[in-house]
Amino acid sequence: MEIETLLIHSGAENPLGAVGTPIFATSTFADAALHGYSYTRTSNPTRAALEKTLAAAEGGRYGFAFASGLAAEDALFACFDKIICAKDTYGGTKRLLRTCYSAVFTDVSDENALSSALRGTYGALVFAETPANPLMRVTDIRKTAAVAHAHNAYLAIDNTFLSPALQKPLALGADATVHSATKYLGGHHDSVAGCLATSGEELAKKLKNLMNTKGNGLSPFESFLIKRGMETLALRMKKHCENASEVFKYLKTRSDIKRIYYAGDPENEGYAVNSSQSSGAGGVISFEIDEEKVPEFIKSLKLIRFAESLGGNASLITHPYTQTHASLDEGEKAACGITKGLLRLSCGTESAVDIITDLERAAVN
Ligand SMILES: Cc1ncc(COP(=O)(O)O)c(C=O)c1O
Repeated sequence: MEIETLLIHSGAENPLGAVGTPIFATSTFADAALHGYSYTRTSNPTRAALEKTLAAAEGGRYGFAFASGLAAEDALFACFDKIICAKDTYGGTKRLLRTCYSAVFTDVSDENALSSALRGTYGALVFAETPANPLMRVTDIRKTAAVAHAHNAYLAIDNTFLSPALQKPLALGADATVHSATKYLGGHHDSVAGCLATSGEELAKKLKNLMNTKGNGLSPFESFLIKRGMETLALRMKKHCENASEVFKYLKTRSDIKRIYYAGDPENEGYAVNSSQSSGAGGVISFEIDEEKVPEFIKSLKLIRFAESLGGNASLITHPYTQTHASLDEGEKAACGITKGLLRLSCGTESAVDIITDLERAAVN
């Protein structure tokens, strides 16, 4: 089945022939021996429906839905003794790794750097986000998986920015894929959630046990919202991509925009790799203006909201320096290219004309 169909029909084996996913708002279940459900911390049919959809969409055997993207990452990281993380990731991922784990940060796209970080390890986890927050740097999933596997390590890809509608890391050699489902999977800015898919039986067993032990599984209501959001994921991703492509062409014409970072830009360093491993560049574009113009630029916008997220129907603009990557120190921000003049735009599914008109307003005022 094609992804558009899978997203609608996977996980739809509901009681009484219900076509929509019922919300099983119950903490406990009687007669567990009859149906396998005993207690919602352990498992819940609404969460299971979402997990099946996620697994099918990612082409994995197992899916998991956690209380947030970071909760999904935390569960994954807890399964490994050694973690090697890409230098470019969401700031919260780095904060999680620094606070709770002892991870090594390296340029995982540099084969020598990754090999040397992996030397002498066994069963380590390599973690990367592609395209990565906020400069849209691209990691070659096939190549990174090959290097990781040559050192008996696992590769997990944060697939938040493209979603399985555009990129399937498991088919490219990754062992697990993680999402802030808060973003494109949910798609409506109405819930916080995290998802994880894998085909690895051992890893899946550990994750299932961790969810039950830590109690970080997604609630039935939030599971319903993400499951419903996923039904339109393929449609929405098409529109996000189209809008970003139009907005990119417009931004290119502006002399006050100093640099643009977009995975769909043929001049982007990672363009060829991204095109070889995905069917689109997603809806996020970062760009740099003079830092003193940032407050005025943001204030002039009327449609695009200044808020810290991405991937929903409503376009959002973010200031990574003070928001998503605020937890990085000055040196690390500088090393990652996160300047005070950098803005990250998540193109929603509105009309591209209206998004561009709003950006024009920010130029005029
Ligand atoms: C790429 C990426 N991964 C993970 C996360 C964390 O997800 P959540 O906010 O759902 O915990 C985020 C949040 O912005 C993100 O952008």
